[in-house]
Amino acid sequence: MAKTLPSDVKDFSLAPQGKRRILWADRDMPVLAEIHRRFEKELPLRGRKISACLHVTAETANLCRCLRAGGADLVLCASNPLSTQDDVAASLVKDFGVKTFAIRGENRDTYYSHIQTACKHEPSVTIDDGADLVNSLHTDMSRYAGNVIASMEETTTGIHRLRAMEAAGVLKFPVVAVNDAQCKHLFDNRYGTGQSTIDGVIRATDFLLAGKKVVVVGYGWCGRGVATRAKGQGSTVIVCEVNPVRALEACMDGFLVMPMSQAAREGELFITLTGDINVIDRAHFAAMKQGAIVCNSGHFNVELNLPALEKLAKKINRGVRGPMVDEFVLPSGNSIYVLAEGRLVNLACAEGHPASVMDMSFAIQALSAEYAVKNAGKLSVKVHDVPAELDSYVARLKLKTMGIKIDKLTPEQKKYLASSEMGT
Ligand code: ADE
Repeated sequence: MAKTLPSDVKDFSLAPQGKRRILWADRDMPVLAEIHRRFEKELPLRGRKISACLHVTAETANLCRCLRAGGADLVLCASNPLSTQDDVAASLVKDFGVKTFAIRGENRDTYYSHIQTACKHEPSVTIDDGADLVNSLHTDMSRYAGNVIASMEETTTGIHRLRAMEAAGVLKFPVVAVNDAQCKHLFDNRYGTGQSTIDGVIRATDFLLAGKKVVVVGYGWCGRGVATRAKGQGSTVIVCEVNPVRALEACMDGFLVMPMSQAAREGELFITLTGDINVIDRAHFAAMKQGAIVCNSGHFNVELNLPALEKLAKKINRGVRGPMVDEFVLPSGNSIYVLAEGRLVNLACAEGHPASVMDMSFAIQALSAEYAVKNAGKLSVKVHDVPAELDSYVARLKLKTMGIKIDKLTPEQKKYLASSEMGT
C-alpha cells in the first residue's frame, strides 16, 4: 500500500519478514498495546507532527504504530548507523504507513541527511535516542526548532548532552527525560542491556562465558546488568569504575574491582558501558592478552580508542568470523578482536533489548508524548522528569499483564506512615 510514502529504506521485498517480526514483538508488548487501544479512541496526538530518531527495530515499530494510532503524523530515522533492522524499516513503510529513513550500514552523510529529513518534517514533538536529532535542531537545522513544544529523550548519554545544553543556557525547548523514569532505566538499562549485550557477543563470536574473565567498564545501570548476567553464566567479572560509591557497590555485589591498567592484563572479554571517551586506550590494548575480545555497549562509538589501535596494529584483518569481527595484530604478535567497529554491540550484533522490556520504555515514551502535547506551552525550557504517576501506571499495568498481584497499604498502615507520633 504505502510504497509511495516518502522513505529511504534498503529493500521493500524484506517487508513480509519485517512484518512478522513486528507482530512477534507486539505479543510481548501488552502495556504499549493497552495505550495503543486508548490512543485509537482518544486521538491525543491528532494532527501533531512527530519526528523520532530511534533504533529502527521491531519494538520501535510498535511504538510508531501506537503514536500513529494516537493521530500523529510521524517520520522515523535511525539513531545509529548500524542498528537498523532493514526488514522492519521496509515493513514500517509498506505495511504501517510510517515515513522511514534508515538503512543499516548507512554512512555518516546518509545518517545525517536522514536526520535532516526528520527536521524538515517540521515536528512539534521529537523523540530522540542519544540527542542527535535535538542537536541538529540546535545547530545546522535550527530554523526548524521554533515549532518544537517538547522532546523526549530515551538514553543516559542523550540526557547528559541535554543537561549540558541546559547548563550552558542554549537549550531551545523543554525535554522530558524518559531515560530517568524508573520503569525505563531500572529494567531496560539493567536487564535489557544485560541480556542483549551478552547476546550480541555470543552471536558475533560464539564466546563461552563460563570460566572466563570478563571486564565490565562502567557500573551504571547498564554495567550492573551486564556484570550480573556474565556472573550468572559463570564468568569471573572484573569491574572498572571511576565513581567511588559505584566501585564500592560493585565490590559488595561480589565483583573484583580494579583500574583498567590492571584489568587490561587479565581480561578475556572487555565490554565498555561508560558513556565516556577512550576508556580503553592505546596502552590498555597494548597490555591485553592474546585473543582478547573487545566491544562497546555504550551509546556512541567513542569508548574504545580505535584510531590508536589502528595505528598500533601492524596488520588489520576485517570480518574474520562474520562482518562484525575485526582482528588487530599487534607488534607483539597478539591479536585483539574488536566487535561491530566499537558501536553498540547489542544492536549491531544482536537485536537490541527484548520486546518485553522495551514494552515499558516505549509505554513511557508514548505517555510522555501525550503529556507533552497536553502541556504544550506550559513546560519550562529545561530537562523535566517524567511525572511519577506515569511510572506507577506502567509498573501496575506491567504487573497485571504478568498475572502478578501485590498488597495495598491498610488504612492503619497509611496512618502509621503519615504520623510521627508512634515510637517504641
Ligand atoms: N535500544 C536497545 N534495544 C532496543 C530495541 N530493541 N529497540 C529500540 N531501541 C533499543
